[in-house]
Amino acid sequence: MRQPFVPPGGETGVTPEPLKTGVELRINGEPFLHTGDPDMPLLWLLRDTLRLTGTKYGCGLGQCGACTVHVNGKAQRACVTPVRSLAGQAVTTIEGLASGDDLHPVQQAWIEEDVPQCGYCQAGQIMAAAELLARKPNPAESDIAQIGNLCRCGTYPRIRKAIRRAADLARAARSEAAAKAGEGK
Ligand code: FES
Ligand code: FES
Repeated sequence: MRQPFVPPGGETGVTPEPLKTGVELRINGEPFLHTGDPDMPLLWLLRDTLRLTGTKYGCGLGQCGACTVHVNGKAQRACVTPVRSLAGQAVTTIEGLASGDDLHPVQQAWIEEDVPQCGYCQAGQIMAAAELLARKPNPAESDIAQIGNLCRCGTYPRIRKAIRRAADLARAARSEAAAKAGEGK
């Protein structure tokens, strides 16, 4: 007589859970599977699902830059980025910018220059500045001027000063690392 078909795991009496499908991405270095609406804007996922509320909602139209995050190192506006477009991509938010206890040079410079006023736009400003310095370690004034993030409090002069200071801090850190590497030879 033919034996009845027993599905894998059936002999244990445990019904396997169906595989979850969704959008796989990385957020601040951690893998994440988004099983909700794939058209949900990234900003909603960050703030409402993951409670990463450092990234702010300003205009919701891709205009103000309050929601700026990095996607594979590039500055991107989370309010107009559908999660479905992020399959296999790496997202970094302001919460993931520092390396452990070491602040990113832009964060350090922001503190030293006392940049924020109300603070609402500042996470986006910092993420935009960090991306600029990764692309152009010694940015010209015209490069800095191209950051289009808005600040209703008008902190632009301090932002520009802090970006220049961050470039100096990053340069000093690179020289120190190179000197240490030289000592070890
Ligand atoms: Fe995204 Fe304004 S909230 S650009
Ligand atoms: Fe208030 Fe920029 S510090 S909006």
